[in-house]
Amino acid sequence: MSATDRACDLRRQIAQQITAQGAVTVAEFMRLALAARHLGYYASRDPLGRQGDFITAPEISQMFGEMIGLWCVDTWHRLGRPNPFRLIELGPGRGTLMADALRAARLAPDFLAALDLHLVEISEPLIAAQGQALGAHHPRWHETLDTIPAGPFMLIANEFFDALPVHQFEMTTAGWRERGVTLREGPAWDQDVAFSWTLLPPGPQLALLRPAHQPAKPGDLAEVSPASIAVCDQIARRCRADGGAALMIDYGPAESGLGDSLQALRRHRYHDPLQDVGAADLTAHVDFAALMDTSRLAGCACFGPVTQGAFLRALGIEMRAARLSRGQLPQGQKDDVASEVASALHRLIDPAEMGTLFKVSALAMPQLSDLAGF
Ligand SMILES: C[S@@+](CC[C@H](N)C(=O)[O-])C[C@H]1O[C@@H](n2cnc3c(N)ncnc32)[C@H](O)[C@@H]1O
Repeated sequence: MSATDRACDLRRQIAQQITAQGAVTVAEFMRLALAARHLGYYASRDPLGRQGDFITAPEISQMFGEMIGLWCVDTWHRLGRPNPFRLIELGPGRGTLMADALRAARLAPDFLAALDLHLVEISEPLIAAQGQALGAHHPRWHETLDTIPAGPFMLIANEFFDALPVHQFEMTTAGWRERGVTLREGPAWDQDVAFSWTLLPPGPQLALLRPAHQPAKPGDLAEVSPASIAVCDQIARRCRADGGAALMIDYGPAESGLGDSLQALRRHRYHDPLQDVGAADLTAHVDFAALMDTSRLAGCACFGPVTQGAFLRALGIEMRAARLSRGQLPQGQKDDVASEVASALHRLIDPAEMGTLFKVSALAMPQLSDLAGF
């Protein structure tokens, strides 16, 4: 089945659910659009790169994964060099970040010998790409964290939490109401489906709102991601029980607040989130303050958020860029490589590019008081 047919089938599946049960929450709509078995956006394609819909930091330059590899080696030492330990990545994309990280970690053979690699992924095409990139490290795949064996661990999540569903709430003149998605007209099974926004009747979901969402005026929007909080809570409890640390990199503000950050990206352009469902990526900003509160409540040490630019500079990305630019190449090619490296460095750390919008946070077992980069 082609990707276009799958997206069409997905829209019909969502329409059927709405016809049978009424409007769905934005979170349920996002979950189906991205992760419905076999038909969801991530389940059915490799969306990364110039030919795809968006590009991520590890796909911009090897330097990103290399810095994270060095962070892992340093953190492993701070954790007391557990052997064995689980190295876990959530949503590893094409496996590029982990492949670059493990290549950089060759300077620490004990680290490589102790690690047991686990990847959490729901996309079959991306699992195939990860197998190609990381086969030599014998990874094991999981749909969720639940099936990863207990034990000390280190976890990496780059642009994973932004793909988890968010509930949206709108302040009306009658108070907060949850936003939902319904069908624009009655179901038309013989043609494509059109969706529209609606407001759901008041219900217990309103309890998800946080103090940071006050005060609000009519028209204001608030977002909450219980799915992200549940994953973060699971990581934090594990960190406390088994020892470990987790690094989360994503885009979003440092402080919780109001705003509509739900966005759709297709072929590197912004789209209406209700259009091209199943064929466009859907994301929302990550609420780092909510994740850090969750980790703190579970008894973990919390670090950040700091900006991606500050984090990568603190780990020495500028030195790495200078080294890569000097490379062992003939003079003509050296100039090309130097300008490629400079442009990648700019994209990763400049405040006008990914340097400020993207943030980095970490959580760790409570005995750790320091982590590199923070
Ligand atoms: C935006 S991509 C980021 C990929 C990679 N981390 C990178 O930086 O290139 C999101 C990744 O998370 C995976 N993913 C999305 N939702 C997921 C879920 N609910 N469970 C597990 N993986 C998921 C996607 O298939 C993809 O690998």
